[in-house]
Amino acid sequence: MPEAVSIRITVNGVTYERSVEPRLLLSDFLRGELGLTGTHVGCEHGVCGACTVLVNGDSARSCLFLAAQLDGAEVKTVEGLGTAQAMSPVQKAFHECHALQCGFCTPGMLITTMDILSKFPDADDEQIREGLSGNLCRCTGYQNIVRAVRMAADNIKAQAQEEAAS
Ligand code: FES
Ligand code: FES
Repeated sequence: MPEAVSIRITVNGVTYERSVEPRLLLSDFLRGELGLTGTHVGCEHGVCGACTVLVNGDSARSCLFLAAQLDGAEVKTVEGLGTAQAMSPVQKAFHECHALQCGFCTPGMLITTMDILSKFPDADDEQIREGLSGNLCRCTGYQNIVRAVRMAADNIKAQAQEEAAS
């Protein structure tokens, strides 16, 4: 059996030190070790996008990373976005646009939206569709998801203005 590897990883602002098997996937680490089951696992080979998280600010498929590779990294999962009582601007937009049906793809869509809008705050429909193209929705609710990303961009700007004014 390969030797365990020690890692120090920050997830949603909390730093964890753990000893992990070298082959443990990041997705299994998040779900199994940390109990962050909001990160969903669909295809397990990098196709569906359900397992998307932010690694050092960029979207990444957690089923394609080994936890051992992420020593020193900062990870954000859907649990780090907000709560039901205090939703983030992106979560609010998905809620208001009814941008989910079964919800299986939603954590990955929310995180990917964060990534798109961090790079293109004024993303047009083409950029939004391109940005979401690696995330599959089995319920095919893409129209409302695109609307939600547009609304999320507005929500983020409004929140920034409110914060600047306060
Ligand atoms: S579970 Fe990772 S991309 Fe599908
Ligand atoms: S809402 Fe069901 S998979 Fe997207």
